[in-house]
Amino acid sequence: MTIRLGLVGFGGVNRALVDILRGRRDDVGGYFTVTAVSDLYQGSAFAAGGLDLDLLRELPLVRGALESAPGGSTKADNDALVASPDVDVVVEASVTDPLRGEPALTLCRAALSAGKSVVTANKGPAVFALRDLLALAATHGVHFLFEGAVMSGTPVLRAARLAYPGAKFSGFRGVLNGTSNYVLGRMESGASLAEAVKEAQREGYAEADPTADIEGHDARLKVVILANLLLGADLRPSDVACDGLSGLDPRQVAQAPAGAPPGRWKLIGRAQRHPDGRVEAEVGPLRLELDDPLAGVCGPTNALTLEADDLGPTTIVGPGAGRAQTAFALLSDLLELRARHGVGS
Ligand code: HSE
Repeated sequence: MTIRLGLVGFGGVNRALVDILRGRRDDVGGYFTVTAVSDLYQGSAFAAGGLDLDLLRELPLVRGALESAPGGSTKADNDALVASPDVDVVVEASVTDPLRGEPALTLCRAALSAGKSVVTANKGPAVFALRDLLALAATHGVHFLFEGAVMSGTPVLRAARLAYPGAKFSGFRGVLNGTSNYVLGRMESGASLAEAVKEAQREGYAEADPTADIEGHDARLKVVILANLLLGADLRPSDVACDGLSGLDPRQVAQAPAGAPPGRWKLIGRAQRHPDGRVEAEVGPLRLELDDPLAGVCGPTNALTLEADDLGPTTIVGPGAGRAQTAFALLSDLLELRARHGVGS
């Protein structure tokens, strides 16, 4: 029996997920059927027996594209997808709203309340309602998984949840935004901030409006998720002080101050639990000495150093962005769901 997926959002990430599923039909792809797709711009398509993945993938990314699929329409229909008896799991990959997490948050609530597990790469729902969504999932006997929201396919959330039995996390520090890390590397080689951002856009790392990447707002959302999940905090983005790269003097980045040990500037997101239980978190540029594992993380790569009582720091390094990498995170969540339901490992 396959698990029937309803895809919400049919941009780069869910299209990349379809690519993985069709490329691995004889393997993990065979565990899943896509029975519904809904996208605000491209419309929707529903087929109880499963949509043809080759056909889906050939659709151009244009307004109303899903109309030409079987059961297709030019209109998105997230409500019908969430209510559909032919959808077991909702795979949510729409754009993050950094202010309220909507409309993804409402959609996740509706899906969980309807008894469907949710897998998402969207930061918004986990930032603004992590505890509520986990509790709602538990109430309805389903699951809410969001590995792709932090460090794309690099499985930091799963590692922290499953690979440290007995560990009590006291804090973390991370390079949590690939674009800004790439930009800092270029500034280190003498480029101005504006030149480096243009290069990042040319390379496809930065958003069309790169402000959230460069000013630390994207990293701040990831800090909130990590602090709330790993340190039991209850932070909102406004609780996290945030500085970006625009205040940095490029000469400072390119050249070490006289007498200073060799080092590198990094945009660091961090949080610390204090003995009284309070959790403090911030995002800002820091000059790290070269023996810090985070100092060696270059280009669009991300890394997270977790601090655990009785263990000390451990660092996980890997891709932090990219459609295929984020789609891989969705796949990893889907496979965990399958295993949780006792149909595979
Ligand atoms: N734009 C982000 C980055 C990836 O550059 O890391 C999505 O959070």
